[in-house]
Amino acid sequence: MSKAKAADIDFNSLDFSYKDLPYRYQAEYHNGQWEPGELTTDSNVQLSEAAVVLHYGQEVFEGLKAYRRKDGGVNLFRPDRNAKRMRQSAERLLMPGYPEADFIEAVKEVVKANSDFIPPYESGGSLYIRPFLIGTSPIVGVKPGNDFIFRIYVTPVGAYYPGGLRPTAFVTSEFDRAAHGGTGQAKVGGNYAASMLPGEEAHRAGFSDVVYLDPREHHYIEELGSANFFGITKDGQFKTPKSPSILPSITKFSLLELAEEMGMHPVETPIGIDELDQFEEAGAMGTAAVISPVGSITHQAKKHVFYSETEVGPKTKALYDRLTAIQYGDEKGPAGWVVDV
Ligand code: PLP
Ligand code: COI
Repeated sequence: MSKAKAADIDFNSLDFSYKDLPYRYQAEYHNGQWEPGELTTDSNVQLSEAAVVLHYGQEVFEGLKAYRRKDGGVNLFRPDRNAKRMRQSAERLLMPGYPEADFIEAVKEVVKANSDFIPPYESGGSLYIRPFLIGTSPIVGVKPGNDFIFRIYVTPVGAYYPGGLRPTAFVTSEFDRAAHGGTGQAKVGGNYAASMLPGEEAHRAGFSDVVYLDPREHHYIEELGSANFFGITKDGQFKTPKSPSILPSITKFSLLELAEEMGMHPVETPIGIDELDQFEEAGAMGTAAVISPVGSITHQAKKHVFYSETEVGPKTKALYDRLTAIQYGDEKGPAGWVVDV
């Protein structure tokens, strides 16, 4: 793949795809400690054919974004939360976490080094940041390795679900992405491998993504593809599922606070798939998804339409406007949410 050139990119029509930018950050772990990391230009990672990540999936990752402000500066949104969640995910797979303060410094360094590729404020795009951690020791039996690579690449992106704020259709699946007591709370590659077949089935049937149901009873909503779910009730409650097998979404925790501030009573609670009638509006929330309105959910061939299949609802739009205004630096949010690069 050839290196991307900023002059060749149309920042106003970005999709959610990889571009090989000039710099990435890499640090290695050997003999029980992290070695100093540095920027590198090589977008390939060289591994032993027996590297544990290739066979047993010892991998965790994160996703966050850098936002170009109107004044030309650059914001990160709650990178301390990503640093912490990555350490927690790593613990689940017996990997050494990358120190949280170093994580934030490394993110800043790689964003600054690729700053020509941060989409302009007016484009509505952002620079997606993908930190990841892999086990590199050559291992044949199933056990954790002793050698690791921490790496961060970045790529400019637009909307994750085509259409951005246009509602899309979702469908439930017979498949699960994570088991009860499994790795659903951790951001590990294996969860996403398990989601590929159901995701592909949903796409082929014309849906934008899957609504996963809880792995024990297949009754309660878990999450949506690569995002958490929310519904807004007729009396203005902002409800989102509580479950031990979903990703603790940073966007969700942020919207729980913003919903409170905006007078929508926020609740984390189990939500049955037969309880959709209570919601006037619904959406997917996540770093990639931002807030993507859910137009409908189809379950066992029955379609439930929320506010509209073509128009975003007013409360979803208000949450989207407030969240993105904070991220892009147009409005002040709660203390510490936005970090200047
Ligand atoms: N759920 C899944 C499965 C995800 O992949 C993501 C994306 O990171 C989310 C939820 C949303 O999490 P966050 O808001 O931290 O990006
Ligand atoms: C994110 O929102 O950062 C995600 O992880 C989604 C991704 C898997 C595309």
